[in-house]
Amino acid sequence: MKAIVYKSNAGHTMQYAIFLSKKLNIPCYDIKDAIKYLSKGDEIIYLGWVCAGRICGYSKSNKMYDIKCCGAVGIYPSTTEYLTELKNGNNVNQELFYMRGGIDYSKLNWLFKRVIKLVGSAIKKENKPGSEELSQVLENGASFVSEENTKDILDYINSMK
Ligand SMILES: Cc1cc2nc3c(=O)[nH]c(=O)nc-3n(C[C@H](O)[C@H](O)[C@H](O)COP(=O)(O)O)c2cc1C
Repeated sequence: MKAIVYKSNAGHTMQYAIFLSKKLNIPCYDIKDAIKYLSKGDEIIYLGWVCAGRICGYSKSNKMYDIKCCGAVGIYPSTTEYLTELKNGNNVNQELFYMRGGIDYSKLNWLFKRVIKLVGSAIKKENKPGSEELSQVLENGASFVSEENTKDILDYINSMK
């Protein structure tokens, strides 16, 4: 495995990439810089943030590199249903792991701030059971980045060695 390649908008995916990089002792590169350090077909681990159901940068990286496994970082709670939805919706043909990221309003542009606020109010209005936490998170921001969330992807990578 040569490196971890990631695409992050507000920094949570980057935090996971840096953490995995330290744990695995391989470099991590932003998708924009990766081209300078890697060659086509190099073996990588790919991490991308989720925007409107899309794992950003995945399909581009999948054409360029040999992705050994993939991580998606989003704000929805981690469930097997959501993982399956992301895997099918993004045509991920490697093992996919989900790690919960966060919302940091100080790092979002005005459009993304507005989208998140609108989604938060819509969820609040719907008032479905169990949706209180998510609507709070979307309203006020939060970070769920933790070492614990990398356990499954790390176990998988270590089992491939
Ligand atoms: C415009 C926008 C759309 C988003 N869409 C989703 C989504 O469909 N599913 C999800 O789980 N999270 C979604 N999120 C939340 C981000 O995936 C989450 O904040 C993630 O931690 C961002 O990673 P980053 O900090 O590396 O950019 C969205 C965030 C923004 C700003």
